[in-house]
Amino acid sequence: MYLSREEEGIYQGEQGETLRRMMEILVALGDIYGAEKLVPVRSVQIAGVSYKNIGEAGLEWISDLKGQVVVPSILNPAGMDLCRWQEMGIEEEFAVKQQQTIEAYRKLGVTIDCTCTPYQIYEGLAGKGDHLAWSESSAVSYANSVIGACTNREGGPSALAAALVGKTALYGYHLDENRLPTLLVEVEADLRGSDYGALGFLVGRIVKDCVPFFRLRGLRPSPDELKALGAAMAASGSVALYYVEDVTPAPDAWQAEKICIGRKEIEEVYAKYPGSGADAVALGCPHCSAEELEKIAGLLHGKKVQKELWVCTARKIAEVHPDLVTTIEESGARVYCDTCMVVSPATERFGKMMTSSGKALVYLPGLAGVQAGLGSLEECIDVALGRR
Ligand code: F3S
Repeated sequence: MYLSREEEGIYQGEQGETLRRMMEILVALGDIYGAEKLVPVRSVQIAGVSYKNIGEAGLEWISDLKGQVVVPSILNPAGMDLCRWQEMGIEEEFAVKQQQTIEAYRKLGVTIDCTCTPYQIYEGLAGKGDHLAWSESSAVSYANSVIGACTNREGGPSALAAALVGKTALYGYHLDENRLPTLLVEVEADLRGSDYGALGFLVGRIVKDCVPFFRLRGLRPSPDELKALGAAMAASGSVALYYVEDVTPAPDAWQAEKICIGRKEIEEVYAKYPGSGADAVALGCPHCSAEELEKIAGLLHGKKVQKELWVCTARKIAEVHPDLVTTIEESGARVYCDTCMVVSPATERFGKMMTSSGKALVYLPGLAGVQAGLGSLEECIDVALGRR
């Protein structure tokens, strides 16, 4: 891979051991994937934050690094709400390790926002055509597909390397030739809300790592619905880029095979993963937007939950909408920030969680060992209120 004189100097250790190690990671990835060179990135989103996932070895690795990030860099969700971890049932030993991890990132100049929806809280992190180094799969999907930026799905170390060096290797979704649709998906059904998560769950299973182009019979999904669609496809398959006709930025000329999906197939997803028997409900995967908090608050207003209901969001969203948080919490539900139902060990005590997210449907059993059922937002709230 070509390196400029300055990059070569970093690679040789002229700017210290940390940068040398970071450049080594970027060059190794570039060599593996055949990158011609490095490209500057506008922002970085770093996975590998929950102590549940990184453990002691990860904490030591991050703590050992020196220097400062050179581009705006924020974090993925941590293993707990950084303020209300005791309420979540997190043990003190875990909390101490999690705080140490956060402090290690803070020392490197990383902004301590722990969210998988950075685009919901900062406008300046990504724009059409920007190169990024983002980690979390739903954030990657949203950046590539809805914003029209370019990012591969970075691992924690490669994202941190990009943050400290300010560059990433130019391969994969950074190149136009890898961004063409490879499958046309005709959807012959009206969709709303959680249907997009169910559709994404289904399509991800079918297409694996294709680049699907959706024709939705003129439907115009909202940003939250696009977020749900991309998140589910990234989890049940490994889709990092998709298009929706007349909604997302898309290339003009391409050809691909076609598949059709109808209402019947979407209903089969709900039928296969019922919410019956759930002992808790999880909303906010990916993290809730202000609009989603408003919907949840509207459904819970003046009512009391009978089962634990977690609503996960970014701290900045919760801070800007204290009235919505209060309404939700007056019902007995909890709005947790900085964390989520999958990366926190606190959900492992549940046997089964009901969710409206096609991504949580995959990851709750896969990564938290908790069974999951899928339903609309209204059905999830009904389960929490004991109506189902
Ligand atoms: Fe975000 Fe956690 Fe879901 S990181 S996308 S809320 S699994």
